[in-house]
Amino acid sequence: MDTQTPALKGEGIALSFGGIKVLKDLDVEFRAGEITGLIGPNGAGKTSLFNTLTGAYRPQSGKITYAGHSLDGLSPAARADKGIVRSFQHVALSPDLTVLENVMIGVARNHHAGWIHAFLPTRRGREEMAQMRAAAEAALADLGLAGAADKLPSELPPGMLRLVEIARAIVGKPAVLLLDEPAAGLNNSETRDLMGSLRKLASPDLVMVVVEHDMDLVMSICDRIYVLNFGAFVACGSPEEVRADDDVVRIYLGSDDD
Ligand SMILES: Nc1ncnc2c1ncn2[C@@H]1O[C@H](COP(=O)(O)OP(=O)(O)O)[C@@H](O)[C@H]1O
Ligand SMILES: [Mg+2]
Repeated sequence: MDTQTPALKGEGIALSFGGIKVLKDLDVEFRAGEITGLIGPNGAGKTSLFNTLTGAYRPQSGKITYAGHSLDGLSPAARADKGIVRSFQHVALSPDLTVLENVMIGVARNHHAGWIHAFLPTRRGREEMAQMRAAAEAALADLGLAGAADKLPSELPPGMLRLVEIARAIVGKPAVLLLDEPAAGLNNSETRDLMGSLRKLASPDLVMVVVEHDMDLVMSICDRIYVLNFGAFVACGSPEEVRADDDVVRIYLGSDDD
């Protein structure tokens, strides 16, 4: 194993609901420093794989490790403490909080041990609050959202709301960032901007995985792509390899969802 490059790995992951196999003995490796795409038709099992990696679903068999350490048996909160963070398919921001406050919640949510003190009327509390604010401002700036900090979510277009969600996910400096259909509901230019922002977020220490069922979209930003169909991988490789794969071509020409 290459110890220089941490990776989120699953081996032999099997998940079923009521006898229906949703994930079939999957082996997967998401490496730091790469953006990995996870694509496949609706119902293929992409979200279920994320749920399994974050601990929301418990697989019937298989093991999951990050940087060589087992995550098996750890709750989603314990995995978030280890820096394994996800965004959801649907935007879930608090409508009464400003953009900045929404992102500050992410500091508390994503493994920041001192956050509770931020709400105490003490000097330490004020310092913690100032740090949370600074971290949130930096995350917003990283995504080009500095100007939106004091706005309410209802004042922003959908594309920017997606970015706010991502700011909230990255504010705690995650080790692993799992993005479930971040471009859902966005128009073409918003999607292009989002992909550019994700590309800029990529860093040598960060494992980034983007779920998307539009192949062209992930082709443009991903280093490697896994293609999932009916709970099994049908292809994995560079965008060029995946694009040329007969099974992938068949799946994508054969199905016409969205
Ligand atoms: N909690 C659950 N209970 C029962 N079936 C589920 C559950 N979660 C997912 N599934 C099933 O697993 C399959 C894969 O779903 P999902 O992971 O959401 O696919 P994708 O994200 O690729 O569209 C679907 O058939 C779905 O109905
Ligand atoms: Mg899904």
